[in-house]
Amino acid sequence: MCGIVAYIGNKPAFPILINGLKRLEYRGYDSAGVALYENSGLNVLKKEGKVAALEAFAVDKASDSTLGIAHTRWATHGAPNDVNAHPHLSADGSLAIIHNGIIENYHSIKAELHDKGYAFESDTDTEVLVTFIQDIRDTHNLSFEDAVITSLSKVIGAYAIVVINQDNPDQMIAARKGSPMVIGLGDGEYFIASDATPIVEFTKDVIYLNDEEIAIIQRDGYRITNTSNVPLIPSIQKLDIQLEALEKGGYEHFMLKEIFGQPESIADCMRGRLNARERKLTLGGIREYANKLVNAEKITILGCGTSWHAGLVAEYILEDICRIPVEVEYASEFRYRNPVIKEGDIIIAISQSGETADTLAAIELAKSKGAIVFGVVNAVGSSIARATHEGAYLHAGPEIGVASTKAFTGQLTVLTMIALKVGYLKGTITESQYGDLLYELESIPKKVAQALETDKRIQEISAKFKDATNCLYLGRGYNFPVALEGALKLKEISYIHAEGYPAAEMKHGPIALIDENMPVVFIATRDSSYEKIISNIQEVKSRKGKVIAIVSQHDEEIERMADFTIEVPSSHEALMPLISVIPLQLLSYHIAIMRGCNVDQPRNLAKSVTVE
Ligand code: F6R
Repeated sequence: MCGIVAYIGNKPAFPILINGLKRLEYRGYDSAGVALYENSGLNVLKKEGKVAALEAFAVDKASDSTLGIAHTRWATHGAPNDVNAHPHLSADGSLAIIHNGIIENYHSIKAELHDKGYAFESDTDTEVLVTFIQDIRDTHNLSFEDAVITSLSKVIGAYAIVVINQDNPDQMIAARKGSPMVIGLGDGEYFIASDATPIVEFTKDVIYLNDEEIAIIQRDGYRITNTSNVPLIPSIQKLDIQLEALEKGGYEHFMLKEIFGQPESIADCMRGRLNARERKLTLGGIREYANKLVNAEKITILGCGTSWHAGLVAEYILEDICRIPVEVEYASEFRYRNPVIKEGDIIIAISQSGETADTLAAIELAKSKGAIVFGVVNAVGSSIARATHEGAYLHAGPEIGVASTKAFTGQLTVLTMIALKVGYLKGTITESQYGDLLYELESIPKKVAQALETDKRIQEISAKFKDATNCLYLGRGYNFPVALEGALKLKEISYIHAEGYPAAEMKHGPIALIDENMPVVFIATRDSSYEKIISNIQEVKSRKGKVIAIVSQHDEEIERMADFTIEVPSSHEALMPLISVIPLQLLSYHIAIMRGCNVDQPRNLAKSVTVE
């Protein structure tokens, strides 16, 4: 939630900050702002709306200053408007701050400051924090640096902040606790950002700041300290992101690029890990703890949203192939419900961004009870990747569209590889089943490419349903989590109300919704529940519902019943979610476009949910 970017160096800061904000806009886009150091004072320019609105507003008001901070917001405290947008100035105007996170005790701090005569313009916790820093500096006659450190020791909550000071044109101070922050080390210049995307075109050398670390960045060097001001030796890492991965590459939207990029991203995920001909499946990231997985009495999977759906698919696969009982939990529930976790229990945490606050907190809770945590994460170097004991990256490349697509199929690919490896080591699948599944998995990118060929047909179907107000998604077995995922994709980007259900559950309530206006999407590929789902389709048809069915190629039986069919290639049923989700991603994309929605930045959402 919220993107922050800051620059100090020898170039004009404004264009670097605006471009950086555009890269970070997926994190929040209800308002944006910059603050530039100028001799006459800190020049703060803010605007409600997207970064483009800020750019248009600020372009002729920004100086050539070489020190500045900038922010794109996803509102937590106070409505999205010009006043609540960041940066915020301290009461005396001497300090400016950008902040990602939530200061939980800001009410009591604000009350204290009120009593001392301070007034506030905005409704934000951030303005309270910067005035608190100013007050501590002035009351105790502290240096800027000591004032930041002292005030942070009194703050409860999560933050990634950068503060600049009117009295020092050569310095900025950054700190993090619970919200991500990366520092880019250039040649005579430094960058700070919520992730590496604004930095990558300038330098590949970065430091991922850890929780409760503070960076004091000067034009001529930097220091990292802990909250007791003890110097730390930072670990400098090399970025492995290419600039092209952050651009649309000729597609209209990032989401479309990411949907069509799946044959490649799934292949990237398997590259160097899977070789069916040689019967090789190597997951370096789980080597050390592989035995623990093999001997696990139970596995608990944690995630949110789409990642939780990937976890549900994994539950079916792990139980099927490895015969290990699996529980899949919303991280947000797990962390607050006193779960039964024992020393040595196995947890798999799934996250695209690697920054989801609930998932991170659930991991810490599990670790505090002695669990071993595996991460299935896309963002390299992210907080979750670093908090877990071991894990496997998706290698799907940056996912920028807010709706998760290629990360979902990457997650399924990694989780399937884990299940195959464990099943094989455990002996719960035969040699020949193992070999066949390796070949099947290896052929998935090709089959996903074929599933993408349904795009034209899906556009025609989308035109017929674009004005729907409700939609049901039904599937059984492996395709039930796919139904949930299809419904989530539709609602989040087209704002059509959609529900996913196990098809057989329809009779226990949702069937009452069905009439001639209700589109029902069935994921009805030929698998072990095929006959059953045909009966469910008939139940919908006899109540005049409109059926759109995702089917296996040449399925004439469902074609006779359904209003529309979309054919996809077949595979082993455990791998079908990788294929059957593709038309659902396309369906939601095209419907949303036809309704005039912003698919890459749907309303109220952010890519990285770093607040609970
Ligand atoms: C939906 C979507 C979200 C995320 C969820 C978890 O398209 O993207 O539901 O899946 O916010 O995010 P990560 O995977 O980053 O932990």
